[in-house]
Amino acid sequence: MNAIKLDRDNLESYVSDDEIARLQGDVSKIHEAMEAGRSKGSDYLGWLHLPSSITGDVLDDIKERAHEVREMADVFVSIGIGGSYLGAKAAIEFVTHTFNNQLKKRTGRSPEIYFAGQNISSDYLADLFDVIEEKDICLNVISKSGTTTEPAIAFRLLKEKAEQRYGRKEARKRIIATTDSSRGALKKLAHEEGYKTFVIPDDVGGRYSVLTPVGLLPIAVAGIDIGKLVSGAAEAEKSSADAGFESNLAYRYAAIRNILYQKGKTIEILSSFHPSLHFVAEWWKQLAGESEGKEGKSLFPASVDLTTDLHSMGQWIQEGNRIIFETFMTIEKSNREITIPKVDDDLDGLNYIAGKSLDFVNDKAHRGTAMAHRDGGVPNMTLSLKDRSPETLGQLFYFFERAVAMSGYLLGVNPFDQPGVEFYKKNMFSLLGK
Ligand code: PA5
Repeated sequence: MNAIKLDRDNLESYVSDDEIARLQGDVSKIHEAMEAGRSKGSDYLGWLHLPSSITGDVLDDIKERAHEVREMADVFVSIGIGGSYLGAKAAIEFVTHTFNNQLKKRTGRSPEIYFAGQNISSDYLADLFDVIEEKDICLNVISKSGTTTEPAIAFRLLKEKAEQRYGRKEARKRIIATTDSSRGALKKLAHEEGYKTFVIPDDVGGRYSVLTPVGLLPIAVAGIDIGKLVSGAAEAEKSSADAGFESNLAYRYAAIRNILYQKGKTIEILSSFHPSLHFVAEWWKQLAGESEGKEGKSLFPASVDLTTDLHSMGQWIQEGNRIIFETFMTIEKSNREITIPKVDDDLDGLNYIAGKSLDFVNDKAHRGTAMAHRDGGVPNMTLSLKDRSPETLGQLFYFFERAVAMSGYLLGVNPFDQPGVEFYKKNMFSLLGK
C-alpha cells in the first residue's frame, strides 16, 4: 500500500514498540478467524475480499447506468442515510472540485449532485425542491433494509415531484433503486414500478458498502473513475493479506488505538488539514462508531477540520480533559498549487512566506499543531495521503474498514451489528402511532 503512510513520532512516550508487538499474537488469531469466516458477525464479512472480487461486468453495468444519468440529468439526487449515504458523499467531496455543483463548466457532463434522506428536515427538502426546479432530474434511492424511514420519506416526496414533472411512465426511467436482492419495501416498490435496480450483497453491511453499487453508482455519476477506486482498494486488500504489523498498516493502526484506549484515551479525534477530507471523517465516524460502540466499550470517534477548528476546538484539544488522542490526516500534494505573492508595502507582514506554496504553509501548520498537541498531553499520529486520486481513496477506505473491524474484535465486540440504533426508532414509531 503506497499511497498511505503512518507517522507515529508523536506517540513515542505513549505507545512503545514493545506494547505494539505484544498485540501481534491476538491480532494474528483474529485475522485467521476473520479470513476463515469464524469470527463474530461472520455473515457480514463480504467486504473483506470485495475489491479483488468485483467483476468487470458489475463495474460496466454501473458505469453504463451512470453514463445514462449523466446524459439525462442536470441534477442527480442520491437518497439514503448512514452507510447508504456517507461513502458516496465522502468520495465525491474528496476527489472532485470543491464547488462542483456551482461550477458552470463542470468536467465532462457531470450533473449537480445532491443528497437527501439523511435527515427529516422540512426546510432541507423544501430548499432542495427549489434547487431542482426546472432542471432535469434522476433519483437514486438507496436502502439495504428497504425500510428506513428517513430515505423512504424523502423518496416518496421526490418521486412525486418526478412523476408530476415527467408523468409516471417517464419518471420510472429516471429512478434507480439500490437495495437488497429480495427483502424490504423498497425492493417490492422497485419491482412493481419496474425501476432499474442494483443489488447490495447480503454479506456486506451498510457502513461497509461504499465499494458496492451503494457508493459506486453516485461516485460514477460524479465522473470519478470507479475502476481506479476499486483497484486502490484491491491494493490495500493485498497488503492486508498478512497479519504482521510490518506490512499490515491497518492492523498497526488498530493496535495503537487499542493501546491508547486501554490507557484511558477514550476519544480519538480525526483531524484533517483539507476540507476535501471532511466527509471522509464523517464516513469514518459512522464506521468506527457503529462498529465499536457497544457493550459499554469503545473509543468515541470525533473529528475536526484544521486549521479551521484550531480557532474553536483548538483550545479544548490543547488544554482540556486529557482523555483524547489524535489522528491527523494530511494530503501530500494538492491538485493545484497556489503561491503566496510578494507585495512591496508588506502591510500584512506576510512577505516572509512570499514565494511559498499554501501546501508548504499547511504542512508547517500540521507539524506545529502535532508538536503542540503532543506537548500538551495529546498523543498523536499522522496518516498522510499521497494525493486526492480515486486510487488513494480506495486504499484509504479499505485501510479504515480493516482497521475498524480489527479494533472491534480487539475490544471483544461484534463489529458488524448495530442493535443500539433500533431504540430511537422504537420510540419514534410509537410516538408516531405506527
Ligand atoms: O451501517 C449500517 O448498517 C447503518 O448505518 C445503515 O447504513 C443505515 O442505517 C441505513 O440503512 P439502510 O441502508 O438499510 O436504509
